Parts: sequence; structure tokens; C-alpha cells
Amino acid sequence: MKIKGKTAIVSGASRGVGKAVALKLAKYGVNLALVARERDKLEEVAGQAEKLGSKVLVVVCDVTDSNQVKSAVQTVIQALGPVHILVNSAGFGVWKPFSEISDQEHQKMMQTNYWGTYNFIRAILPSMLANKQGHIVNISSGTGKFALSVTSGYSASKFAVSGLSEALYRELRFTGVKVSCLHPGSIKTEFWNEQNTPQKYLPATIRLSPKISPEKVARAVCYCLWLGFPAYTFPIFVAILAKLNALWLRLGDIIMWRWFYLALAILILLLILKRVL
Ligand SMILES: NC(=O)c1ccc[n+]([C@@H]2O[C@H](COP(=O)([O-])OP(=O)(O)OC[C@H]3O[C@@H](n4cnc5c(N)ncnc54)[C@H](OP(=O)(O)O)[C@@H]3O)[C@@H](O)[C@H]2O)c1
Repeated sequence: MKIKGKTAIVSGASRGVGKAVALKLAKYGVNLALVARERDKLEEVAGQAEKLGSKVLVVVCDVTDSNQVKSAVQTVIQALGPVHILVNSAGFGVWKPFSEISDQEHQKMMQTNYWGTYNFIRAILPSMLANKQGHIVNISSGTGKFALSVTSGYSASKFAVSGLSEALYRELRFTGVKVSCLHPGSIKTEFWNEQNTPQKYLPATIRLSPKISPEKVARAVCYCLWLGFPAYTFPIFVAILAKLNALWLRLGDIIMWRWFYLALAILILLLILKRVL
């Protein structure tokens, strides 16, 4: 899809991935509706996007409330015209063992990550279908492909997003509406805070893997829009892990097991020593 001059709704645009996506789209000449709950932060992002030449509307909305989402979409269509792109980035994660996570935390992840995504698709899809044009990009997660020991609630919500995206991709493929789902690894954002994700619970797979920048995720969103990828898992380490885990769950176990990294480090050290000596 040529994105210049198109209109996009970006949820979770007040910070992190959503903000980076909004600014990247603004750079490519896309008009924007920025959605989140914190008006001040949205206004800040809007100011930056406007400097890049984009027409911007700030819409304060809690994605878990379907009525708020419906009226947000109506407001956007009235102000900016037909919406061609929807990026669902609003989300959060609580990474704790199942025995320590509360029912409320578990439900809130489902409400925000899955139902928030669902609410926006439900509200925007009829107009995209009527216009026979549109692209929905959902930000799932690497843990929406393979679950880690402390991601029961988060993975459940992200597997749901991945499933919804894959089904809609197939269902809508001949309607002019495209659906893409991103499965990124860990990203450097405020997602990682001690209250939601105590360091002591983080699995080695997460602690040892370098975090990617939100700008890299924003670039991936653009690749999906330009090239129509139905799904994109990155970086490469996460993509390999997802494939091996899908092939055979036990292979995923081995790679996520901390001794695997120790063995790998020793092997690399031995190979280096063999070359040097
Ligand atoms: N960070 C990672 O390592 C990582 C990895 C893979 C996937 N992801 C996914 O990437 C997406 C973006 O995460 P991030 O890293 O950018 O996190 P972040 O920096 O914490 O940003 C989360 C965004 O979601 C918005 N949000 C949360 N709950 C909302 C609600 N009920 N209604 C409206 N907006 C809401 C927040 O805005 P307000 O608080 O202003 O409402 C904020 O703009 C999430 O879906 C996350 O699951 C993150």
C-alpha cells in the first residue's frame, strides 16, 4: 500500500512502540489519530508529528471500553475522513508466576491486549470493507508465538491477538482489507517496569537477549504496510525460537533452558581458543 496521504489510527500512541510508529508514519506523510488515555503525552507526540507535516487528531480513549472506541472511530472519520490504516499497539504485560498473578491483572491483560484490539477492529472494519481498502496491523509479541514460564496471562492475551489476526487475514484477503500481525522480541520501553515485571522473575531468554528499539518495530510496521506481510516475527533469534517451538515444544524447552546458553558460551570459547592456540 502507498501510505503517503493516507489516514491512520494508532492506539497506544502516547509512548513506546505506538509513539515510534506514529512518528514514523508522520515522516512518510500519513495523517494521524493518536489514541491512549493520557492526553498530555498524546499532545506532545502530536506536536512532534505535526512538525513532520502530518495532520493530527488526539483522541483520549480507553481501548477496553467498546463504547469509547466506537465514538473515537466516529470522531476520527468525521475529522480526518476515511481511515486506511489501524495500528493496534495499546497493551501492557504483567510477568509473574501464575500463583502470584492476581485475577484482576490476568483479566486486565486480556481486556487491554485482546479486547482492546478486537474493539478497534470491530469499530473500523465496516468502513474499511465499504471502501474496499484498509490495512490493520496488530502488535502481538514473540510470546504470542511461544509462551515463557511467567507469561501465562500475557501470552494468553497475545496468542489471542495472533489467532484473531491470522483468521482475519485469511477471511478478508480478497476484500481489499489486509491484516498483519507483528511478533517482536523485547523492546526498550516503559513496558518493563519493576511493578509489572519484577526482575527476579525474568527468564534467562529475556534477560540475555538484547532489547530492540521501538523505532525498529515502527520500521517493521512500515514493511508490513508496504509489502503486505501477514505476520512478521523478529529479531531473527525470536523467529528461530518461534519456528523450533512450533515444530516441537521440547526444542523450545532446550533453547529457553539457561544451561543451553552456558553450553553455547563454552562452545564458542572453545572454538575461539582452538583458533588462537
Ligand atoms: N516492550 C516490549 O518488550 C514488547 C515486546 C513485544 C510486544 N510488545 C507489545 O507492544 C505494544 C506496545 O508496548 P510498549 O512496549 O510500547 O509499552 P508502553 O511503552 O508501556 O506503552 C503502552 C501504550 O499502551 C497504552 N495503553 C495501555 N493501556 C491502555 C488502555 N486501556 N487504553 C488505551 N491505551 C492504553 C499506553 O498509553 P496510556 O497509558 O496513556 O493509556 C501506552 O501508550 C503492547 O501491545 C505490548 O504488549 C511489547
